[in-house]
Amino acid sequence: ASILGNIEKLHLLGPGRCYVEFGAGRGKLSHWVDVALQNAENVQFLLVERATTRFKVDGKHKKTNSVFERLQVDIQHLCLKKVPILEKKKLPVVGIGKHLCGAATDLALRCLVESYTACSDGGNEEPEPKRCRTDLTEVAPNSAVDNESNKEDCKPVAGIVIALCCHHKCDWTHYVGREFFKSVGLGQVEFNYFQRMSSWATCGMRETTAKASASEESEDQTNKTEEHEQMLNKTECGSDTSPGMLTAEDRKEIGCLCKRLIDHGRIEYLEQRGYRAALQRYTESAVSLENVLLTAVPSPALIPEPTT
Ligand SMILES: C[S@@+](CC[C@H](N)C(=O)[O-])C[C@H]1O[C@@H](n2cnc3c(N)ncnc32)[C@H](O)[C@@H]1O
Repeated sequence: ASILGNIEKLHLLGPGRCYVEFGAGRGKLSHWVDVALQNAENVQFLLVERATTRFKVDGKHKKTNSVFERLQVDIQHLCLKKVPILEKKKLPVVGIGKHLCGAATDLALRCLVESYTACSDGGNEEPEPKRCRTDLTEVAPNSAVDNESNKEDCKPVAGIVIALCCHHKCDWTHYVGREFFKSVGLGQVEFNYFQRMSSWATCGMRETTAKASASEESEDQTNKTEEHEQMLNKTECGSDTSPGMLTAEDRKEIGCLCKRLIDHGRIEYLEQRGYRAALQRYTESAVSLENVLLTAVPSPALIPEPTT
């Protein structure tokens, strides 16, 4: 039931693939995928991270066949088709992530499903990007995607496995489920309420997370605190400021429902673009309250062959 177990269950663990880890931090998930691959041939890892993280596990991969590359970039500016190794090798991509916060998940989905999928054969090129930061980046398209172009050209993404978190850090601008919200008569105003109330689901997290990471990650504490703002202020969490009747349990349940509603929009987005998508718990709540995994694979007719 682990993240790795789910990657394997979806037949995404094997040679001839490029694993793109979004919001990689120290790249631990890629590290464990690499270990599980047992020196499989022709495997590439791209670790996408905007922060200047200390890359403690990077050195450990030198002994394996796999090639690791770091891209220090904000996901919203990443265009995978411009990454030289992907341009050259045209490997099917597996998008992975562990605790990819809020809007970063939506950006990653757009990056895979819109900019990479739609452009990678060159047949359905997007218009020229509005601005480029480096030769690897462009502004990801925000408008509704052209469904037809994606149906015709879905080969490059073999699968997506992302452990979700921090829905309170989602935003309407990047959210991929806007069409779903609109289809059920909801809009930005309601989204903003759900996004804020989603933090109620993890209000007890502060203590658990702090305890769990104290010894192991003391070195990275600054980065953790800065980047993984599970720490919510009293206005969001405190019973003292909640509107009268709601108990802590009520708030937690409402928070969880808000998270699932936001995630449902993501599922609909993926399904409308030819993916079989699902949400599942990958670990116990006692281990992490952020224990939901978003998975997606192309619908059967569109499954890419690994490149050997
Ligand atoms: C909660 S941390 C998880 C880090 C790592 N995956 C782990 O499990 O330890 C989320 C990471 O996503 C990165 N991140 C958030 N938004 C991002 C974005 N738009 N582009 C690139 N990285 C982003 C943060 O810098 C942070 O390192």
